[in-house]
Amino acid sequence: MADDQDNQHRTATRVVEAGRRKQWTSVPDLAGGVVNPPVWRASTHLYENCAALKEAAASANEDGRFYYGRRGAPTQWALAEALTGLEKGAYGTMLYPSGVAAITGAYLAVLRPGERLLITDNAYDPSRNIGTGLMKNFGVKPEFFDPLDIEAFRALCAQDGKIGTVLLEAPGSLTFEMCDVPALAAIAKAAGAWVLIDNTWAGPTGFSGIPHGCDGVITALTKHVGGHSDLMMGAVSGTERLYRRLRRTAQQLGTVVSPDDAALALRGLRTLDLRLKQETASALEIAQWLAKRPEVAAVLCPMLDGAPGHDLWRRDFTGGCGLFAFVLKGRDTAARARLIDALDLFGIGYSWGGFESLALPVDPETCRSVRAWPPVGNPADGWAGLDEGDRFAVRLSIGLEDPVDLIADLEQGFAAMEAGG
Ligand SMILES: Cc1ncc(COP(=O)(O)O)c(C=O)c1O
Repeated sequence: MADDQDNQHRTATRVVEAGRRKQWTSVPDLAGGVVNPPVWRASTHLYENCAALKEAAASANEDGRFYYGRRGAPTQWALAEALTGLEKGAYGTMLYPSGVAAITGAYLAVLRPGERLLITDNAYDPSRNIGTGLMKNFGVKPEFFDPLDIEAFRALCAQDGKIGTVLLEAPGSLTFEMCDVPALAAIAKAAGAWVLIDNTWAGPTGFSGIPHGCDGVITALTKHVGGHSDLMMGAVSGTERLYRRLRRTAQQLGTVVSPDDAALALRGLRTLDLRLKQETASALEIAQWLAKRPEVAAVLCPMLDGAPGHDLWRRDFTGGCGLFAFVLKGRDTAARARLIDALDLFGIGYSWGGFESLALPVDPETCRSVRAWPPVGNPADGWAGLDEGDRFAVRLSIGLEDPVDLIADLEQGFAAMEAGG
């Protein structure tokens, strides 16, 4: 496992101390302060006089200087600064009202008409659709690539046409292929592209995209950082060059997040490391149990010893999370529905990363362009045991319940599946 220590404190300490500037939490007149920055609800910031207004306008584009509500206030600045502090190599962070808005905001910041947008084939569905929809309407040319085939990616990059951006996701949040981020990023950079990575799965405590060659790291804060399934938010942290573009674009789009949600995200952030460690341990226990079940053709989880991508995960990542999937052995969608519907402790719903466990039917073949699903007969995948009939998967987001109870729930779910409907 990669080392989780930076030159100051360890990860668990950094998530507690990040973004807690004294001037945002202290009340000088009362000679004291509070632990968290208050929720500054403000559209209008007031100035002492016209000279102060003029001075503020001159520094209007800096965080930490009041100007107008759309530029944020200490609650949002504290969150952005905390995320920048946790994201190794980042110069700044822009906040967005959802993870999808962060992806769109990043695309719009870096892509220009006529440029190619190369999207990993295991990307989150909307990342693909924004590329083939909105961005294509703006004259961008979306293309997909197999994240496991480095030579094919190199050949794609060598083709004619300026590559504006390459979007990576490691692991993919449906099929969990783990790609070689530094290798792909180096090829993309040599081709002159911006490299973005959707790092929602590992988050800033589990993987650092910038030291591995990316310019920007997209995180759906809705998932692990929020952690309690009660807010929508996204972020992009990046190098200085990228951050300036992100900021300019976000300001033109009028992108702003509410201080209430920023305060919730900050609260979630303080327990991020602890929650992810527990969820990773529980997920591993459940994944190991599932791997031995006769109803299961494959467990898609790079954290599992010997699983495809496990070596890359150990090499590059400092942590994992509770999100993984398993493929049913030769069962149909009705059998899968019987299993999921019978679960008591797992909710059925979108999203992930909350304290509560979720189960979701997923059909990866519906969002593939290059890599076939199921990946039968592709030894590079390493998923021995997957046959043509093993198509239907269940994605689990493991929360903070005791894994013993979750395993018992899955066991009775399998019994209900086999009992028929
Ligand atoms: C990998 C990944 N990225 C981004 C998002 C988008 O986040 P949001 O739901 O906040 O728009 C999701 C949501 O499921 C996701 O799974």
